[in-house]
Amino acid sequence: MDQQAIEQDVTERVLASFENTKDPRLKEIMRSLTTHLHAFIRDVRLTEAEWDRAIAFLTGCGHITDDKRQEFVLLSDVLGASMLTIAVNNEAYGDATEATVFGPFFVEEAPEIQYGGDISGGMSGQPCWVEGTVTDTEGNPVANARVDVWEADDDGFYDVQYEGQEIAGRAWLRTDADGRYGFWALTPTPYPIPHDGPVGNMLQATGRSPVRCAHLHFMVDAPGLRRLVTHIFVEGDPQLEIGDSVFGVKDSLIKKFEQQNASTPTPDGRVLDRDWSRTTFDIVLAPENA
Ligand code: BEZ
Ligand code: FE
Repeated sequence: MDQQAIEQDVTERVLASFENTKDPRLKEIMRSLTTHLHAFIRDVRLTEAEWDRAIAFLTGCGHITDDKRQEFVLLSDVLGASMLTIAVNNEAYGDATEATVFGPFFVEEAPEIQYGGDISGGMSGQPCWVEGTVTDTEGNPVANARVDVWEADDDGFYDVQYEGQEIAGRAWLRTDADGRYGFWALTPTPYPIPHDGPVGNMLQATGRSPVRCAHLHFMVDAPGLRRLVTHIFVEGDPQLEIGDSVFGVKDSLIKKFEQQNASTPTPDGRVLDRDWSRTTFDIVLAPENA
């Protein structure tokens, strides 16, 4: 056998080993994974030292991962695998709002707030009034939709990244009968994804920045409609020019955050002794199985 045939023979034998897989979808995935992984190894003529390095990298990702730190999610995000999976699974439907990365910082235990509540929980940052509507693609208001929101403080950290920190910078609320929601948050600022582990080392070795464009996370759920996981980004954020480390930005999600003086009356009569900002995000949900 010549070299090419020897290499192809390995691939054929691995493909054949999945022949008896009962679940047809699992079979399809394992065979395709084998085909692409083997093609990659042949393509770059991977050395044994490089493969050892890859195993050490993945082992490092495992060792640093716990219930608060998910290095594999970061890896998926910085390789664009998260955004590509989202693109494959959230085909554009009418004018439905676009989805983006979930990220590793959502937690189930966020408190419920009412219209006008404050999600910041005392975290540092500039107050920001966020309001909008939730409608379906026919323009009908969606009452009682669940709107989850979460964000980092202006030092670039989520509550779960502080030792012993209470829940803050996150909450959920329901839309009213007209599909409206409104709450106080913090004006988002750019922050780096955790980069003190293997993924950070990879970013550094490849000359990439760990910084994410400033954003506020949303997850919106309503019966019969497609769950939306997304963010809004801040128009004029200089990081938008540099780029987002996890490829999450979509033009339709960049919103104006208008700066207001402390003396400008707030939408709900709240008295502030500092400047604040306000933004509007009207959310359109696709049908569930679209
Ligand atoms: C986030 O936005 O919270 C996030 C997304 C991807 C990786 C790390 C953080
Ligand atoms: Fe985030």
